[in-house]
Amino acid sequence: MQTPKEHLLRNFSEALEHSFHPLSQEAGSVPLEITKSTQDKFGHYQFNSAMRLAKPLGQPPRAIAEKIIENLSKDGMIEKLEIAGPGFVNITLLPSYLSSLVNAIARDERAGIESPATPQRIVIDFSSPNIAKELHVGHLRSTIIGDCLARLFEFKGHDVVRLNHIGDWGTQFGMLIAFMKQDVPEAFQNPEGYALEDLMGWYKQAKAKFDSDENFKTNSQKEVGRLQGGDSSSLKAWEAICSISRQSYLEIYRLLDIEIKDRGESFYNPFLKDVVDELQKKGLVQESDGALCIFMKGFTNREGEPLPLIIRKTDGGYNYATTDLAAIRQRIRDEKADRIIYVTDAGQASHFKMIFQAAEEAGWLDPQKTRVDHVPFGLVLGPDGKKFKTRSGETERLIDLITTAIEKAYSIVSERQSEMAEEEKRHLAEKLGTSSIKYADLSCHRTGDYTFSYDRMLKFEGNTASYLLYSFVRIQGIKKKVGKETEEILNESQAVLSHPSEIALGLHLAQFGETLDQMANDLLPNQLTEYLYQLAEKFNAFFRDCRVEGSEEEGSRLTLIVATERVLKAGLHILGIGTVERM
Ligand code: ARG
Repeated sequence: MQTPKEHLLRNFSEALEHSFHPLSQEAGSVPLEITKSTQDKFGHYQFNSAMRLAKPLGQPPRAIAEKIIENLSKDGMIEKLEIAGPGFVNITLLPSYLSSLVNAIARDERAGIESPATPQRIVIDFSSPNIAKELHVGHLRSTIIGDCLARLFEFKGHDVVRLNHIGDWGTQFGMLIAFMKQDVPEAFQNPEGYALEDLMGWYKQAKAKFDSDENFKTNSQKEVGRLQGGDSSSLKAWEAICSISRQSYLEIYRLLDIEIKDRGESFYNPFLKDVVDELQKKGLVQESDGALCIFMKGFTNREGEPLPLIIRKTDGGYNYATTDLAAIRQRIRDEKADRIIYVTDAGQASHFKMIFQAAEEAGWLDPQKTRVDHVPFGLVLGPDGKKFKTRSGETERLIDLITTAIEKAYSIVSERQSEMAEEEKRHLAEKLGTSSIKYADLSCHRTGDYTFSYDRMLKFEGNTASYLLYSFVRIQGIKKKVGKETEEILNESQAVLSHPSEIALGLHLAQFGETLDQMANDLLPNQLTEYLYQLAEKFNAFFRDCRVEGSEEEGSRLTLIVATERVLKAGLHILGIGTVERM
């Protein structure tokens, strides 16, 4: 289904061609702009480009607007056009047009969203915890936002590759392996018997030993060499460490319903040398204090001195940047990505800027062909406005945070639904708890810091997951009360909108696709939460103002309700929130 905006853009551009034929190149290159109206009294949309066309066309904007309107095909979609101010065109759509869109949405599993003619291959690099370390709230944000973007592009019909760029390689493993070989060799036999906590304990002890015991230090360094050289006992040890860590992040993914493919830093290890060789051959690399560096225009430190991207350390080892260069080359060259999206905290912004520029200078990345985005996000703050911590002052463990939200949801559920079966209560609490965490995160502007509050996120009123889920449950209730299933409603009736609250809801439903397009461009999930919150508000207004059951318009209004249900469900799905039947 074409969105109203696409439809209007096409008609306005045809009218422009027609009115000023032949259109000069300068006039033809002015991008036409149609936006949603800022106020209801101005209609539904407005055309803003007459002002920018004035110069290339050599006419006053209002005259241009008039001429365009004369030649505009109303196409069964437009009720009223009005020129306002310096030359805006206010557009009011026909109720019959909006009705037809609502009918299309109600009858489409994909809520009116068309698949693209040529799907893009979109790599999304998110979550990406580090082995032998606890996932922290920053990883939680990356996991939630990355999953939401992946769901968006999948829903739109693209080919999405979800990648977990785990920190599973590096010199720190030498120490841990050396320690485990000495003190807990049995762990290599059955990694399933150990947990991340054990690894972290060993890591601490290994670190202490490394700093105090020269022998152990040399041994650890040798271990790094052995691992990199592919020694089988060292590799086996490394695999055991990764698998112990994996159990803990997989548990979190299970709770949050996250799908992602592990492709950690170690995957790129075999290509690092070649990447550095290629960059050297291309003349991009300079030596500085024994390290290999890339200096690029526009990157300086606080003192204004050139800031290098180090790609090989003084000791000959490769680093985070080398791995990301190998990864971007692989994703473009082998993975054939049309778009690559990296979701990490804002602190890594300059790292990615440098990686993107280096990839461009190396000739791997052509921004005309491949769009790359670093999608940064702000900090998670506690109620005191400081970085989120537990009461004991330690950084909160992610799993504890999730289980606490689920427990709190459980007490709310038990209070509201005392007669509900225990199993259903548990199930519902798990859904509500995790959905609330996701929604609270996604509904804040991504780049800002976000304040974590169990009480606020679990509320049933306001812009929360529960409020939206409750609206969905209400729709089920209405259908049940009338005693009709979706199929029956759609077989019997068509939506014919006339009441202002019906029109307002219908227009909003018609704008679902535009919201997704906007989000695909800006990569801001709060655009969708804001849209869905307004959808619930408009639905409630409609239901308050318009009687459904037993009214003359029952069939039409039920169709409108089905369309609302589809869009709400699809929107929640993109946020990673599954609907519930009761709550
Ligand atoms: N492991 C990193 C961290 O915890 C995030 C990796 C992000 N992805 C990447 N391609 N660098 O900060």
